[in-house]
Order: sequence, then C-alpha cells, then structure tokens
Amino acid sequence: MNTPAATEPATADPPTAGYVLDANWHAERARLDSLTRLYDPRTLAVCDQLGLAAGWRCLDVGAGTGSLALALAERVAPAGSVVALDIDTRFLEPLAAPRLETVALDVTEEPLPRAEFDLVHSRLLLEHFPARGDVLENMIGAVKPGAWVLIEDFDWVTALVVDPSSDLHRRMVSAIRSVFIRHGYDPHYGRTLPRRLRAAGLTDVGTRAEAIQVDADPLIGVPQWELLADQFAPSLLSSGLVDQADLDAFHELLHDGHTVCFAPLMVSCWGKARA
Ligand SMILES: C[S@@+](CC[C@H](N)C(=O)[O-])C[C@H]1O[C@@H](n2cnc3c(N)ncnc32)[C@H](O)[C@@H]1O
Repeated sequence: MNTPAATEPATADPPTAGYVLDANWHAERARLDSLTRLYDPRTLAVCDQLGLAAGWRCLDVGAGTGSLALALAERVAPAGSVVALDIDTRFLEPLAAPRLETVALDVTEEPLPRAEFDLVHSRLLLEHFPARGDVLENMIGAVKPGAWVLIEDFDWVTALVVDPSSDLHRRMVSAIRSVFIRHGYDPHYGRTLPRRLRAAGLTDVGTRAEAIQVDADPLIGVPQWELLADQFAPSLLSSGLVDQADLDAFHELLHDGHTVCFAPLMVSCWGKARA
C-alpha cells in the first residue's frame, strides 16, 4: 500500500481529547517498561545534575510504572520522600512504601498541593493534553520557592530518522502520529519547553535533548514502536493510512537485525521557581 501520509486520518467519529493510551490494554505495562528502560537513567542523570539529594521531597506526575519514583525514593532516603501520582495507579500500588506515596489524581481536573516539593517532574505527559498550559501551571505551583521543575516531552522531529531509508517506516510512524494528533497531542511540544518555562517565570532554565538510537533487534524488535502500533491498530486501520499488510511488514522491519531507528527527540527542560 502506497497511500501518502496525510496529517489527519478520515473518520466520522469525533475524537476524544487528551491521553488515549489504554492502561487496560494487555501489553501496556510492557510498552511502558520499554520506555522506562531507555529514559530512566537519563532522567536520573538530569536530576543528579540539579542536585537531587537526601532529604528532598519529590513529585512525579503521571508516574506510570513508578520505576522512576522508586529510584528517586532511593536517592532521597532516609529523610526525603516521593509522591508518585497518576490518574490510574494500578502499576504504582504495589510500590507504596514509607518514602513512596502513591496518589490517584487527574491532574487536568484537580489542583496539586501548593509550594510543597523540592522537585516536580513529569515525562511524556503534557504533550498529550490540549489544556497542557493549565497543567504546567498547576505543576509549577507545586514547587517550593527556589526549587526545581523538570518537564520531559517528545519532539517528533527525529521520529522519521531511520537507516536504511524505509517508506514503510515513514508511513507507519506518520500514521501513528496522526492518531495522536487527532486527540489533541502536540508532536512538537518538546521544542517549546524552554520558552514555556521561561514565560512561566522560572529562572535558570536549561535543556538536554537526545534522540536515542534504537536497533531493530531480531529477538525483541523495537517495542517502543511495535507496541504503540499494536495498541493503535484499530485506529490505524480505520484511518485508511495503512493496512494490515503494513502492520505486519512493520513488525518484520523492526526485527530485521540491521535497521537503525532514532527515537523522537526527548527534550528534558528544567527551571527554578523564584525564591
Ligand atoms: C506515557 S505514560 C508515561 C509514564 C512515565 N511518566 C514514564 O515516562 O515512564 C503517561 C502516564 O500519565 C498518566 N496520565 C494520563 N493522564 C493523566 C492525568 N489526567 N492525570 C494524571 N496522570 C495521567 C497515565 O496513566 C500514564 O501512566
């Protein structure tokens, strides 16, 4: 199938806005684990650079599996603590411990505590919300004066980078992007973070941006793309942008043992609340 990628899939159904990934989907835990394996070490390196230390009180918003919150709790022990907050705490509940509190809360609807934390972090969250500006403001309000906000979101500028060149890869990634956009996702939110954190009055704004190389492994493939394509399969097929043969061929491509993909650019942006 050689249909050129369109920006919006055609469908009669009005899209739901906001976060559309499904915690009930059978492999969602595996999909999230494939992301934390790549990004947790990098996030922790930035936190260390910001001075993360014993005694800090941290908040991870949209904490997912809680793997990062757990690592932060180890870093801030014994006097510090971490709140792992998510709209769906199914993966977080088994982790609850004296230094790690889990909270079920919809951050688009409910306020966060004010001026309570030394570090407020979110990763791969704000990019999903049409009202992402309000949520960012809510998060910034949760840090103590002089404390840090660290926001990490993708910019899809590198999402089509692949070697050898592949029309199938381009069409599949473009179709996945279209499904997200239809629900209010901003695929270029990452690049706007420095500007937004400065505009929100934060100081010492800094950024680290990295597009991680991900190899098409014959055994594990590229779960970050494949599990997204599998979860979105009904929307991808109904969009008409790709067909079942494309979905099958995408899996083959991502297990071929020599293709190299580059992940979307992960933009990690931090800023300090005025003292
Ligand atoms: C893409 S996952 C990222 C998880 C984690 N931050 C990471 O990078 O591994 C987004 C997480 O945000 C949570 N989430 C989505 N909408 C939310 C909301 N309105 N309020 C709080 N959490 C939300 C989801 O349940 C999911 O766990």
